[in-house]
Amino acid sequence: MKKISKKVSRKVKVTHPSFPKVPLNRPLKIKQKKVWQVLLGDKNHYRVGIYSPKFSSVNEINEFEKHTIKEFFMLIEGNLSLVLCDNKNKGRKKIIKLKPLQPVFVDTWHNGFCPDGPFTGKAIVVERDLFTTFYINN
Ligand SMILES: [Fe+2]
Repeated sequence: MKKISKKVSRKVKVTHPSFPKVPLNRPLKIKQKKVWQVLLGDKNHYRVGIYSPKFSSVNEINEFEKHTIKEFFMLIEGNLSLVLCDNKNKGRKKIIKLKPLQPVFVDTWHNGFCPDGPFTGKAIVVERDLFTTFYINN
C-alpha cells in the first residue's frame, strides 16, 4: 500500500454541547445508514457514539483523521475494519478487522470500511467530549 501524506487539510473542534440530551433509564434508538451518530455523553468527561463507515474498501477512503484524544472502538454488528496510519510504521497503512469484545484504542491517523458494503458494520466509540480533529488526504 502507498504511504500517506502528512499535510493537514482541515481541522474541526468539538466543543460543548457535543452530544444530545437523551432520556435516562430507557433504551435509545440507533439510526441506520449513518456514518457517525453521537448517542450521549457526560459533560467534561466522555461521549459515546456509533460508527458505521460508508466505504466498502480501503481504496475508497479519501482521508484520515486524528484527534487530540484517544478513541475507543469495539465492533457491535456486522464487519468493520479500521485502517490505521502510524508514523512509527513510516506512514504505512495497517488494517485491523474489528471483532466483538476485542476493543481497539486508537491514537493515530484512522478511518474505516465495511467489507460487506456501506453501513453493514457498526462499532461503538467512546471518546472525550472536547477535542480537535485533524484531517489528511489519503
Ligand atoms: Fe476518529
